[in-house]
Amino acid sequence: MSQSRVRHSDIELGKPLPWDVYDEKGTLLLRIGYVINSESQVDKLVAIGVFADSTALRATRLLQYEAEEQEDTPASAAQGWTDLRKQMEQLYAGLDASIADRALANQVAEIAQRVDALCTARPDLALAIISLRQEGRYSTRHMLDTATVVRLAARAMKLPQAREQSLVCAALTMNLGTTDFQDEIKKFTGTLSKAQVDQLHEHPSEAAKKLKAAGVTDAAWLRAVQDHHEHLDGSGYPRELAGSDLHADAQIIRLADIYTARITFREYSSAVALTIALRDILQEGGKTVEAPLAGQFIRAVGIFPPGLQLRLANGEKGVVVRAGSSPNHPIVISLVAADGAPLTPGVYRDTQIAEYAVKETIDPTTFNAYIDIDAIWGV
Ligand SMILES: [Fe+2]
Repeated sequence: MSQSRVRHSDIELGKPLPWDVYDEKGTLLLRIGYVINSESQVDKLVAIGVFADSTALRATRLLQYEAEEQEDTPASAAQGWTDLRKQMEQLYAGLDASIADRALANQVAEIAQRVDALCTARPDLALAIISLRQEGRYSTRHMLDTATVVRLAARAMKLPQAREQSLVCAALTMNLGTTDFQDEIKKFTGTLSKAQVDQLHEHPSEAAKKLKAAGVTDAAWLRAVQDHHEHLDGSGYPRELAGSDLHADAQIIRLADIYTARITFREYSSAVALTIALRDILQEGGKTVEAPLAGQFIRAVGIFPPGLQLRLANGEKGVVVRAGSSPNHPIVISLVAADGAPLTPGVYRDTQIAEYAVKETIDPTTFNAYIDIDAIWGV
């Protein structure tokens, strides 16, 4: 019987030993099933050097490893996105160092990879999180949300993989270097001062300059960041590019930026039906972006994104779960009955059926029902 040395971590206090313990001469010290209750007793055993059957020890270590692995599994469906938002905040908190170390490109690529993995695993949840979880720092969250929309749209539009990667990295860094300013103007309700307008107009160039300083050489990534506020009719900034001078990549970032703002900006849900706000993106086609591109984009991400809160023809209130049989008929889970009583658990409705047709989008602050993300999108 081959024996291996017992480590401190092999012994669990208060639990029966899963193997016999021997000293170095092979003398049995403790029998299988013996319970050690004190840390100091473990310390003493480890200090003198004790041994157990190698195969049995390996089995114990494997079980411990599996238990730890399970602990690492996200506690909820949304956890992966919560962790990723934290990673974005950390990236931006340590920005100067990662630019100086030229570590930034790799860090951004790692986040892009995680966005891809989460979108692949649960694309509906990816969109639902954007509209249902609007906590935390705006500037970094908005770039991550935009990158998520870019990833989903690019895949649905069947863009080449390398181009999709450049676009996602561009969205993750489009406002790099001016995040504090982005947070500031988001809260600002008055008219922007001349200095603020100048800074706003300069932020795409500032971001592209910093990316170059960090060693980013991907031309598609840099161009998309530099031009992400340009408009097809020349009314954008900073270069006032127009027509064919404006590459489709920058237009896709612009579309994702606008789309993300509209599915998170609550005033749209109350003042204007959100679906109308999203359809406006199509009507803006030709002014901000090329009309066919806007059409492709909206078809790719939909005007009824998961997470959107709606009232149905029968008076029930519910949340869009996923696309339905056609773009205008999503599958909804009703959570509030017409008389205001909660529907527990929710009831799935196909909005293609007249009784459950979409009547209107509703202000999320008046929804008055708990939306259980795990129960709806967790499996
Ligand atoms: Fe921007």
